[in-house]
Amino acid sequence: MTEKIIKSADRVKDLGEVFTPKRIVNLMLDQPEITAKINDLHATFLEPSAGEGAFLIELLKRKLQVASKLSKSARTFNTNSLIALSTLYGIEYMEDNVEMLVMNMVTTFNREYECIVQEQYNDKPNQHVEVSAKVIIQANMQQGDTLKKINSEGDPIIFSEWKDLGSGRVQRTEYTFESIINQDGPTGSVKGATEEMDLFADTGFFEDSKTEEPKTKQYSLCSWINVYRQKIE
Ligand SMILES: C[S@@+](CC[C@H](N)C(=O)[O-])C[C@H]1O[C@@H](n2cnc3c(N)ncnc32)[C@H](O)[C@@H]1O
Repeated sequence: MTEKIIKSADRVKDLGEVFTPKRIVNLMLDQPEITAKINDLHATFLEPSAGEGAFLIELLKRKLQVASKLSKSARTFNTNSLIALSTLYGIEYMEDNVEMLVMNMVTTFNREYECIVQEQYNDKPNQHVEVSAKVIIQANMQQGDTLKKINSEGDPIIFSEWKDLGSGRVQRTEYTFESIINQDGPTGSVKGATEEMDLFADTGFFEDSKTEEPKTKQYSLCSWINVYRQKIE
């Protein structure tokens, strides 16, 4: 089947909207420095012009494979699959693309997760994992203008930090995208990437977060598989 890489001539002209063919995505992700980051379960990626998810979907598949290699039981994989998913962030300007992006991420996660649980651990998929995965995807895939750092409502783009606390627990905190990329330290690479509209950036996103001012909301501590139940503190 041929891949559709263009929706319309106007969209190519106005937005530079040309989707990347799978073969090229794989070639790019096979670069050793990218592979090294994929193999690090906690390393974060930001796709600042995500489209329908050409890169994020392939990153998700690869990260889930890494999560499965690190997991001796289905129970550990339940947590590690959500940790892997939580490291992937995307921003996309066009609302129809965002809808497809979220749907593609949900479908890919569920399919790969179920396949690994059944084939590798001979176990049943856990519904809590799939509902929590959807919450993480909806939080991490944001509609907006990466350069202006706002969404179509004019509100700041907000991202969640998912801090893995060990023992299957997570702390979610929301920050504005603006505050994340304006901090010093490893996130300087994000700033460069977004200004140039690179295809994706390995961010180290929240690793040096300054915790006072940029924080907008903090959620109660919970287990990864119960992220969908998490309440704002
Ligand atoms: C060349 S396409 C690439 C899409 C995807 N990365 C891929 O490889 O298939 C560029 C995408 O960036 C989006 N875009 C353009 N300007 C943007 C902006 N300022 N902020 C966020 N997304 C933007 C377009 O809508 C389009 O989906």
